[in-house]
Amino acid sequence: MTADVPLAPAPVLIVEDSAVQAEMLRRVVEGAGYAVLSAGDGATALALARAQRPAAVVSDVSMPVMDGYELCRHLHDDEALAGIPVILLTSLAATDDVIRGLNAGADCYVTKPYDEAVLLASLRAQIEAPPSPSCAGACPPMRLRLGDDEHELRPRDARQLVGLLVSTYESAVHQNRELRRTQERLLDANRELEASNRTLEAAYAELRETQSRLVQSAKMASLGELVAGVAHEINNPLAFVLNHHATVSRALVQVEAEARPQLSPERARLLDKARERLADMAGGLERMRDLVVKLRTFSRLDAGEIRTIDVEEAIDAVLTLLQHRLHDRIRVTRRGVPQRGLDCYPGPLNQVLMNLLANAIDAIDPAAGDGEITITTLEDEDMMRIEIADNGKGMCERVRERIFEPFFTTKPVGAGTGLGLSISFGIVRQHGGTLEAFSEEGVGTRMVVRLPLRQNGPTAATNTGGAT
Ligand SMILES: Nc1ncnc2c1ncn2[C@@H]1O[C@H](COP(=O)(O)OP(=O)(O)OP(=O)(O)O)[C@@H](O)[C@H]1O
Ligand SMILES: [Mg+2]
Repeated sequence: MTADVPLAPAPVLIVEDSAVQAEMLRRVVEGAGYAVLSAGDGATALALARAQRPAAVVSDVSMPVMDGYELCRHLHDDEALAGIPVILLTSLAATDDVIRGLNAGADCYVTKPYDEAVLLASLRAQIEAPPSPSCAGACPPMRLRLGDDEHELRPRDARQLVGLLVSTYESAVHQNRELRRTQERLLDANRELEASNRTLEAAYAELRETQSRLVQSAKMASLGELVAGVAHEINNPLAFVLNHHATVSRALVQVEAEARPQLSPERARLLDKARERLADMAGGLERMRDLVVKLRTFSRLDAGEIRTIDVEEAIDAVLTLLQHRLHDRIRVTRRGVPQRGLDCYPGPLNQVLMNLLANAIDAIDPAAGDGEITITTLEDEDMMRIEIADNGKGMCERVRERIFEPFFTTKPVGAGTGLGLSISFGIVRQHGGTLEAFSEEGVGTRMVVRLPLRQNGPTAATNTGGAT
């Protein structure tokens, strides 16, 4: 740029009260090959102009002592300085600015923050413009209505009027372009922000899911351990008692055969009673053995391995564990018997059944005497459908929409963690199945689990006995 422009015969006078801005302006103007004079306010600038008659004045508008408009007016009132073009640097915030600049005799406006190329092009145009012949195109004062205000315009001549207006328009166009660019940059930044927000939300959701899975599996693992421990502790003495019961029963039969004819009626009645008690004990011991088997079935937390299980057995095991909460107040009805086993991770599947059944029990008001839970197991082509329906309090739409969210619970603090269904949903999905809720407030809820009968994972080991 420096190479093309010959040194101006007279310097450019820069008037700017901010030392930093003044220095920046000086570099720009000098960089274009002009000599520069600097002043920090209008009064100093006027004195300098009188002493050295600059080729053009580039002036800030707001300054102490004498502002840009006043400087302009003084320059144009002075016959010796009237021909010096004045470029005002302004933010062009109000219509008044243009009118004040025009009436003060300014030749050109450049908006702040200025674009160097625009400023230099305006400066060059003003310096190189031929001097206007005196009185050529002189304009009479005119009145102009802008909005609610009326202004008096006193242009020096037609060239000043048009020049100032066109430069104002140019500045507005430039500002508009800058605004558009800023807007585009903002839109880009916004898009980036939205993308990072989505990533963050996904990471947060994953974190919550992992957290809930961890909490639940820890809960289930400790429950499983406890149950397995209890089953083991009961199992040994139970085996011992069962053996002795059988021995005692056999001995009694033998002794009875020989002794009965000699027994008094009273002793014979006592013997009958002993035999009855032994039979009752057999029933009780059978139930205990059953319980141990079910406890062991439940405690299979071998989540790492797919096995083929009997769903009915798994449901039995869970119902056994929940027996103390069912009491006599809730009737459990079973429907449908699947013909084939189900491939699944037994521990997690128990967890699903446990969560669904516990929720069904919770939904039934303890005061209502006619609580009912219906468990239906059906095979539907290559899928198994397990439905757990209750006639409890049901859910309103607002609750039903949120039940699979981790930590969503309507139960009192301490009663529910709000993890049961979200974890069950995850387990069912992991098996390639679906979990759906159908509910009507005040009528009841039906939870439907659909699971593929066969899994393509590691070869399913058949689990026939129910216990591990
Ligand atoms: N069978 C149902 N009947 C009525 N509402 C239910 C039923 N099952 C679930 N809900 C509603 O869904 C909510 C979430 O259930 P979820 O099993 O996830 O958590 P929770 O039972 O509250 O707590 P947690 O199972 O962790 O102890 C429950 O608080 C309840 O409002
Ligand atoms: Mg629950």
